[in-house]
Amino acid sequence: MHVFVTGGTGLIGSAVVAELLGNGHTVLALARSDASALAVKAAGAETLPGGLANLNILRAGAAKADGVIHLAFGNDFSSADAVARAVAEESAGSDRPFVTVSGTPYMPGRISTEADPLPTDGPVGGRGRAVMAVLGLASQGVRSTAVRMPRTVHNEGKGGFAGLLTEIACRTRVSGYPGDGAQRWPAVHALDAAVLFRLALELAPAGTSWHAVADEGDAVRDIAAVIGRRLGLPVEAAPQETYGPLGPIFAIDQPSSSTHTREALGWEPTHPSLLEDLERIQP
Ligand SMILES: NC(=O)c1ccc[n+]([C@@H]2O[C@H](COP(=O)([O-])OP(=O)(O)OC[C@H]3O[C@@H](n4cnc5c(N)ncnc54)[C@H](OP(=O)(O)O)[C@@H]3O)[C@@H](O)[C@H]2O)c1
Repeated sequence: MHVFVTGGTGLIGSAVVAELLGNGHTVLALARSDASALAVKAAGAETLPGGLANLNILRAGAAKADGVIHLAFGNDFSSADAVARAVAEESAGSDRPFVTVSGTPYMPGRISTEADPLPTDGPVGGRGRAVMAVLGLASQGVRSTAVRMPRTVHNEGKGGFAGLLTEIACRTRVSGYPGDGAQRWPAVHALDAAVLFRLALELAPAGTSWHAVADEGDAVRDIAAVIGRRLGLPVEAAPQETYGPLGPIFAIDQPSSSTHTREALGWEPTHPSLLEDLERIQP
């Protein structure tokens, strides 16, 4: 397939571009700067200059492609809706795949699954509503699907919530964790997540959601322990305020499962777990 990718220079997107090119697909990548264009060209993709706000460019990208993987996120939920509309205009009735990204939901007191809904209110509600809009394109003949990311998507010991804990530890000289640290966060290696994006593009039925979860849940104090050991810093409980607006979210136990994804799409993570990958942190 010729695949239009947004966000192809990011932590996840660069792995997705490599995964597609390594499996017989070609890639047209949105690039909003010269530096991004150079990076995607070096990876072997064709570039389409422009940003998420330029809907004509997005329509042109979608029109030229057999499928779309949308990973760019401008911290503006309305832009995600606009992207869905632009792609729909070009793809309606075509049965072409449109894969978007979100986070795994958390369900109080249990492990979340692919069948659980995304929150559509609260701090990340805008994201949930945008993803629902994309999945709703299924009724217009677009093979739209969503791949949900766990709290940490990592590569080379960096990325996601664990990456933020590392940055805060470097700054405060303490490897801290909120609460008692028993709360669990799920995780995946970016290279494994990239395989799932390709499988969703190739195989997933319209309107479905998938979990890119390799580790169902690592206790946050275990994550902090590796970070502290690698950086030579003490490992301690820290007040929630240390984490600013993320404090309440960091405190939540939010394990997630990918049993259905593994069974239905044949996805099997093969890259290092988060705790193994964090061993790559350099003091
Ligand atoms: N990493 C995680 O743990 C995680 C967890 C849950 C969900 N997600 C979601 O997964 C997606 C990819 O995440 P990531 O970690 O790979 O992100 P990332 O490393 O921050 O990369 C973001 C990508 O989006 C592009 N981008 C941002 N704003 C843009 C705009 N206005 N116009 C065009 N391109 C724009 C960036 O391009 P430039 O190179 O030009 O900056 C870059 O390619 C995001 O939607 C993110 O919210 C990630």
